[in-house]
Amino acid sequence: MTGAAEQPALSVRSLSKRFGERMAYEQISFEVGRGEVFGFLGPNGAGKTTMVRTLGTLIAPSAGSASVAGVPLSEANGVEIRRRIAIMPESPGLYQRLSVRDNLACFADLYEVPAPARRIAEVLSMVGLAERAAELCGALSKGLRQRVALARALLSEPQVLFLDEPTSGLDPAAARDVHELIEGMRERGVTVFLTTHRLEEAERLCDRVAILNTTLRSIGRPAELRDQLFTRALLVRTASALADPAAVFASLPALEGWHAQGDSAYLLEAADISALAPHAVRALVAAGADVLAVEERRHSLEDVYLELVGERREEAAR
Ligand SMILES: Nc1ncnc2c1ncn2[C@@H]1O[C@H](COP(=O)(O)OP(=O)(O)O)[C@@H](O)[C@H]1O
Ligand SMILES: [Mg+2]
Repeated sequence: MTGAAEQPALSVRSLSKRFGERMAYEQISFEVGRGEVFGFLGPNGAGKTTMVRTLGTLIAPSAGSASVAGVPLSEANGVEIRRRIAIMPESPGLYQRLSVRDNLACFADLYEVPAPARRIAEVLSMVGLAERAAELCGALSKGLRQRVALARALLSEPQVLFLDEPTSGLDPAAARDVHELIEGMRERGVTVFLTTHRLEEAERLCDRVAILNTTLRSIGRPAELRDQLFTRALLVRTASALADPAAVFASLPALEGWHAQGDSAYLLEAADISALAPHAVRALVAAGADVLAVEERRHSLEDVYLELVGERREEAAR
């Protein structure tokens, strides 16, 4: 094996992109291993497409460095990088009045694919469109057009495939088809960089996920993120507001933090709820509170995701 083959598929170090006053993404660092399906998860405007366009050499970063498919990202290396990767953009950009096969033939020509007829037949069968090759792209459903776009991306046998929100706007059945195709990419050993704003999609498909909203908020395997992010908490409801909740909660063992929830409910956070609950109830009773209910709260992954990415939305609202 050569050194290049052992390098990560993507290596991104302190990368930032600024458009005028606005940072599209800032100080992002991560690595993606060869053959990994890596999720780039964040809300609209988080900087996902801009990252894809940067790593795809369509725009230059403002700061930082990266390597893509083992090649350092630079203007001079653009052709070399583009030869090793493919991008499926958010909107497929196919010629509506050409057939599926003719669309692929145009792009095979553009990408200088060797033995184009054979490769077109291969990619059509990979995406399950062999039977539809003669149909006009404009007459296909959105889901099928997305498959043509994926076939196009596969023409050049990319080492790294960038999929920018490949299921956005698809119905659940078409989205599931795309998910199966991505699983197929994994089996072929293609590195997949998948952007999405759908949590369940990232969780289902990706080996690791980066959560971002301009800055990187968290990165890890979905199960790790889930564990890390599933903060546990105890919700306590009292008949009336506590006069001095801080004093009541101050010395509770195992308590990691607390927030008031409305007038007379309190969320007490702790890794070990069972170590906290008896003390909390005792402290409340000792403070003269009438305890109405004590229940365990588990944040869903979605709650935590929203919390992680929420900062910017609050800034925007100010
Ligand atoms: N060409 C551009 N010129 C100016 N601002 C841009 C440009 N492209 C993206 N942006 C801004 O960068 C931010 C990130 O956009 P984008 O990468 O498209 O987010 P996402 O794909 O996560 O929805 C947004 O605030 C967007 O308005
Ligand atoms: Mg986008």
